Amino acid sequence: MTGSPNSAAIEVTGLARTYGSGDAAVRALRGVDFSVSSGEFVALTGPSGSGKTTLLNCLLGLDRGDSGSIEVLGTAIDQLSYEQAVEWRRQNIAIVFQATGLIPHLSGHENVDVVLRIKEQLSRSERRDRVDATLDALGIGDLANHLPEEMSGGQRQRFAIARALVARPAVLIADEPTGELDSDTAQAVLAVLRTEASNAGTTMVIATHDSLVADSASRLVAMSDGQITEVGNE
Ligand SMILES: Nc1ncnc2c1ncn2[C@@H]1O[C@H](COP(=O)(O)OP(=O)(O)OP(=O)(O)O)[C@@H](O)[C@H]1O
Ligand SMILES: [Mg+2]
Repeated sequence: MTGSPNSAAIEVTGLARTYGSGDAAVRALRGVDFSVSSGEFVALTGPSGSGKTTLLNCLLGLDRGDSGSIEVLGTAIDQLSYEQAVEWRRQNIAIVFQATGLIPHLSGHENVDVVLRIKEQLSRSERRDRVDATLDALGIGDLANHLPEEMSGGQRQRFAIARALVARPAVLIADEPTGELDSDTAQAVLAVLRTEASNAGTTMVIATHDSLVADSASRLVAMSDGQITEVGNE
């Protein structure tokens, strides 16, 4: 399926990915068909080892399938060169992964601001307002001047989410973004994500074991053993 750029934000067809070969081969994805409309908030669930992270890595062009096709925002991400994929991600996608990826020698505020400096032409005060608003929404405004090592795991996780949201990306891909949050904090963070999806039209795919995320999503997609086994309705 080729699809016009606006038909779906994400369109995955027949995606297969096998790690290793021979007796050691692991079929992490076995023919995945998966499509996400623009502005949808999809929770990707399924047991450990079912292929969620593998699918997200393929969507991001960080890993390649052995067969099948992937289009994100109308771009065949699996056809791009390494350099093209790096630039394409920078322009279009925000990522929240299990390892938060904060820069250790920058404060919380600077870690978020750096994304705006790269992506947008804003004045210093516009950037400051945008960063402050994002940190406040996520309940971490009072930690703006702390270094990552001076934060708890859950606080770092929220800074990673702030980095992802601050530039209002077209697509946000997250892997267990609430794994280190207590349920009240997770609820608050999910409310921010939901608001962002509806206001900024950000398309979100979030892999999770957290039932709170699943409840917040506009649609649930379940994986099992490298395949999509259940697709909820909006
Ligand atoms: N780099 C790799 N080399 C070999 N096997 C891998 C690699 N990455 C993942 N796998 C295997 O592929 C399968 C799918 O793994 P994946 O990380 O996608 O699962 P997951 O659904 O994200 O699990 P979890 O919920 O534990 O994060 C697993 O059997 C895993 O062991
Ligand atoms: Mg995973």
